[in-house]
Amino acid sequence: MLVRIGEFRALHLAQLDKRARKFPWGEVLRPDIPVRVEATCRKSRIYHAGAAAQRIERALGEELGAPISKDAAIVVKLRIEDDLAVISLDSSGESLHKRGHKEAVAKAPMRETMAAAFLRECGYDGREPVFDPMCGSGTFVIEAAEIAAGLMPGRSRRFAFEDFASFKPDAWAAMKAASNPVAPAQRFTGADRDQGAIRMSIANADRAGVAEWCDFAQGQVTDAVPPQGPPGLVIINPPYGARIGNKGPLFGLHAAMGEALRSRFKGWRVGIVTSEPALAKATGLPFREPGPYVAHGGLKIRLYQTGPL
Ligand SMILES: C[S@@+](CC[C@H](N)C(=O)[O-])C[C@H]1O[C@@H](n2cnc3c(N)ncnc32)[C@H](O)[C@@H]1O
Repeated sequence: MLVRIGEFRALHLAQLDKRARKFPWGEVLRPDIPVRVEATCRKSRIYHAGAAAQRIERALGEELGAPISKDAAIVVKLRIEDDLAVISLDSSGESLHKRGHKEAVAKAPMRETMAAAFLRECGYDGREPVFDPMCGSGTFVIEAAEIAAGLMPGRSRRFAFEDFASFKPDAWAAMKAASNPVAPAQRFTGADRDQGAIRMSIANADRAGVAEWCDFAQGQVTDAVPPQGPPGLVIINPPYGARIGNKGPLFGLHAAMGEALRSRFKGWRVGIVTSEPALAKATGLPFREPGPYVAHGGLKIRLYQTGPL
């Protein structure tokens, strides 16, 4: 997440240099924390991004006194467009999908942020049980359990903004303390044909602090039976060719998966995230109009969801 901290016009490098030196860096950045600068130029008289970045770095080094380091965790972004220099800070640091507890990842893992967004797109509010019969490293199951438990995403990690001069530790601590986690009444279940994926899911759920509400077991999607209790949401990110193996056999797998769900999961809703409309269709499930496209590992994926079966 970028925080825009200011902008000024810069028609040439000397002007960029002068205005960068006057910029109130000390209001947001600390002189004791290393920084680095990334620059882009578009439709502007200043067209050399490297030279522009170097002017900002010099101002930061000489006016603020901050060390410049190519490995710095704090990133100042300069974007010059139509001769307007816009300065932003990356407030996140490490990508936001890195919640701070997933170490083990299976093949083609889904990002936690994306899994949470697809659950939300399914209308998931934390009150239903959730089952992912192709759970990989357990992302959907764990995110759903966290939502149901009221656990804050990112609670186990640091953010770059914690090193800003403008950071208010007390306000941040109060915000974190205001969360009110509860033990969910329902279960979160994952299965996968790969025993290694099951091991990873268990380890990831444990690190995320949701293991006591989750069950993971090895199994084929075609043998899946509904977990005990009321119906809820089945959510699946099946393999889809371009990422794992070839597409041909996937049609049979999707047809068999759809048949298993249609015959055994009465009352459950189904969400399938895939890049392949034909594979979604092969399930024979009564999908609504699919959701918007989302970029994922060089593909465009989208959510196909049903009402209660
Ligand atoms: C795209 S990955 C799912 C990734 C997962 N959403 C995650 O975040 O890690 C697809 C998963 O389906 C599993 N799988 C493939 N065929 C299966 C089958 N017939 N039955 C059960 N699982 C299967 C694979 O082992 C793989 O973990």
